[in-house]
Amino acid sequence: MSLLSGATTRRRTTTLRVCGAVLGAALIAGASMVGTNAATAATNTPTTNISTGGPIHILLGVGATESQRIASWYFPTNVAQSLEIQKTASMTDGVFTDAKQTVAASEAANTAADSSATDSNTKSIPGIAAESGYINAHATISALEPNTSYTYHVGAADGSAWSASYTFTTKSFSGDFDFLFFGDPQIGSSGFTDDDGAGWADTLKYATSTEPDAELLVSGGDQVEHANNEYEWGAFADSSDVLKRYPWASTIGNHDVGGKAYEQHNQVPNSLKVPDFYPGGNTTANSGGDYWYMYKGVLFIDINSNAYAAGSDAAHVNYVRDVINRYGDDAKWTTLVYHHSIYSPADHANDRDNQQRRFDFTRSFSDMGVDLVLQGHDHSYSRSYAIKNGKKANVNEQPAAPEVFSGPGGVIYMTANSASGSKYYDLTTPDATQGYGADPLDPKGERHFANSVENQEHVRTFVKVSVTDDKLTVQDIRASDCTTLNSAVQHGKVDSCGVTLQPTATADPAAIGSTVDKFNLHATLPTTTTTLTASAAEQTYGTAKPATVTATIAGGIGTQQGTVTFKDGSKVLGTAPVKDGAASMTLPKTLAIGKHAVTASFVNADPVYSGTNSKTAKAMTVTVEKAPSRTAIKYSGGKATVQVKATGFSVDGTARIYQGSKRLATVTVENGVVTSKLPLKKGTHNLHAVFAGTSELSTSTSPTIKVVIK
Ligand SMILES: [Fe+2]
Repeated sequence: MSLLSGATTRRRTTTLRVCGAVLGAALIAGASMVGTNAATAATNTPTTNISTGGPIHILLGVGATESQRIASWYFPTNVAQSLEIQKTASMTDGVFTDAKQTVAASEAANTAADSSATDSNTKSIPGIAAESGYINAHATISALEPNTSYTYHVGAADGSAWSASYTFTTKSFSGDFDFLFFGDPQIGSSGFTDDDGAGWADTLKYATSTEPDAELLVSGGDQVEHANNEYEWGAFADSSDVLKRYPWASTIGNHDVGGKAYEQHNQVPNSLKVPDFYPGGNTTANSGGDYWYMYKGVLFIDINSNAYAAGSDAAHVNYVRDVINRYGDDAKWTTLVYHHSIYSPADHANDRDNQQRRFDFTRSFSDMGVDLVLQGHDHSYSRSYAIKNGKKANVNEQPAAPEVFSGPGGVIYMTANSASGSKYYDLTTPDATQGYGADPLDPKGERHFANSVENQEHVRTFVKVSVTDDKLTVQDIRASDCTTLNSAVQHGKVDSCGVTLQPTATADPAAIGSTVDKFNLHATLPTTTTTLTASAAEQTYGTAKPATVTATIAGGIGTQQGTVTFKDGSKVLGTAPVKDGAASMTLPKTLAIGKHAVTASFVNADPVYSGTNSKTAKAMTVTVEKAPSRTAIKYSGGKATVQVKATGFSVDGTARIYQGSKRLATVTVENGVVTSKLPLKKGTHNLHAVFAGTSELSTSTSPTIKVVIK
């Protein structure tokens, strides 16, 4: 829940299947039903996070760059701490050698620790009270090399108590990579901490094992339910070893903020810990601070959205602007991360803080050139349209569009669903009276106007972002189904589970690993291409059926709209609107005889968001030939009549009358005919006429006629 919850939201009942509706499919899939009607008590393995006398809750945090990590851990007594690290290949049978490097840690006594001896389900946790005496330690690993495996452990600098060893592998420090974004693990929020931890561990293991290019894990906030509950932090950090092998870029949520454990567990780079970035300015009791890092050309800025009132938002905006001004030129993408989803699709849609931030955050972020905003808090999934200054940047962007270009000032805001299965919020009905009404493109009026996709199925998901120079490919992926380690479902916290119809139906049950939503966010306006074809490469002058030329527009985003201008050399032949990706025109029937270099130029009706203008790369040749003529000759009464016809023409020109190869007369054809005296001697004469042709008409020869003069 938001600390600043405002108006009550109306819950939207999504399409959730009753057991009977999915039973057949579930049986086919070999699955069993869970949920209210068939709740199954979880039997997950309890988390091992109780003191062993050595370091616990080790987290390998993100560093300032891809060549750095910052490890954080707890230790039971106040003794000097360090981290030992060595290239794995140089170790001897997995044992550190003299080639290891030792990094001195910073230590501090834990403050504001929770002395509770129970978890959120009031289960007795022996030993947890002792952790109030722990210290927290941090060590920065710098100058890592690319494509190298490292093994490290942490603990007492005198070597008396080391942790287990963990190995991680760096990749290339430039080029393409994937990062994964996880929403609200919020371990403990189901009331069953071990089960939440098991679901969280399963998501982490599944995501990192199935996404081999994933290098960085980004948090949407709310790591735990209770800010200082060490049992929950243990289940968060220690349920798997993934968070000890991949850099975890933590984000502070409202459940993390009310104590110091978050800061003690998550040392972050380039942090600015000033009162404006702490709720109420209270740096003593709360965790907080904003920070940034650069990872392989992506500038990540992570702000504490729990600090809201009394000028904090303005301070956040100034911080983001300052970081972008300083480092934005070095980044190919700028990603902003914070906890409170301002375009919430669910429980927090109409929170007052969101209403305010929908106004002031969006205007600022549009100005700054932010590309992508990653958010949590809502335990449901959403992907916004490209939003500029609080409004849809491109009115033509369609729901769930697979290709998106943010354009100048457009920003995509995403909300991640629960990555642990500990808690889900159902989608809510848009409320225009709260300034956050329905999308007119949704005929059911169920989706909020800013969001292109909203989804809630009560299954664990994570977001994969594949980074290239040209585009971000963003994909929300199911990490569980209704039957696997899904504590909110297992314990009846939600009454059903399954695929909703937001925005399109898919098979139910959906497979683990299947996609909820996927889109490409393009860095630059995608180009269009224009190609030209003709119904015929040749036509005759004056033809009744001249050739049709068609320009086809490909590429860009969506269905291209605009106008094509056809030219013959530099002369405009005509223009035509683009319909269904193509524009056609019929060539003039009087197109001059000869060869014509015909080109087509496309001017996009939406040059900002759908694609560039384009023209044919190479002119197409259309050849116009003379129209055919037909000549005939008759002879009667000492006169020869020559008739010349050409469809569509009134023929004027010269014809010659021959006897064999001997020319007998030259006559002038007018309106297609001429009759001329032609005295012939007695005998038989074989006559034919030849029409000489004109600039428009081809020459033609008549059939030979036999004339007998007695
Ligand atoms: Fe939250």
